[in-house]
Amino acid sequence: MSEDYKRPFSQDNPYKLVFVCLGNICRSPTAEGIFIHKVQEAGLQNYFYIDSAGTAAYHVGESANSKSQATANQHGIHLPSKARQLDYADLEEFDLILPMDSENFKNIKQLDRKNRFESKIKMMREFDPEPGDGQVPDPYYGGLQGFENVFTVLNRSCETLLEELKPHIKD
Ligand code: 4NP
Repeated sequence: MSEDYKRPFSQDNPYKLVFVCLGNICRSPTAEGIFIHKVQEAGLQNYFYIDSAGTAAYHVGESANSKSQATANQHGIHLPSKARQLDYADLEEFDLILPMDSENFKNIKQLDRKNRFESKIKMMREFDPEPGDGQVPDPYYGGLQGFENVFTVLNRSCETLLEELKPHIKD
């Protein structure tokens, strides 16, 4: 696996991540909120630019799903996102693009027609120490338990991701 996405970064040149799902209302806003929280806890907020986006446009402009928000809030985490659709400029701009499942991965690869950005597109669960089937499951049509499971998976994955990036901070 290419590790080109692990570039040195600093406050003057922050590391840019975008979490990606289908609608940008459940999974990727949760990942974004968790990662922001962990970065703030570590006092590293000036070293990162953190965003989320969806490969589909159905929910553009919406806040995170109410069940995603309720679940995150129970864990002391706020979800600030307003849904937007991922576009080609994002592939150029961000250092790391993190699809939640293989369908999102495929959609991103379709934007990357010339295959320029492969090394910075990584499945979110590549960072999960318990990766299961490698997918962050879509909780949209299910009950609260599914949202709690998504939170647990993303909390674990974000923890590892931050630990992997930290050594690349240069002051
Ligand atoms: P997300 O969940 O991709 O985690 O935001 C979904 C949200 C909406 C839909 C599907 C998944 N939808 O079909 O509208």
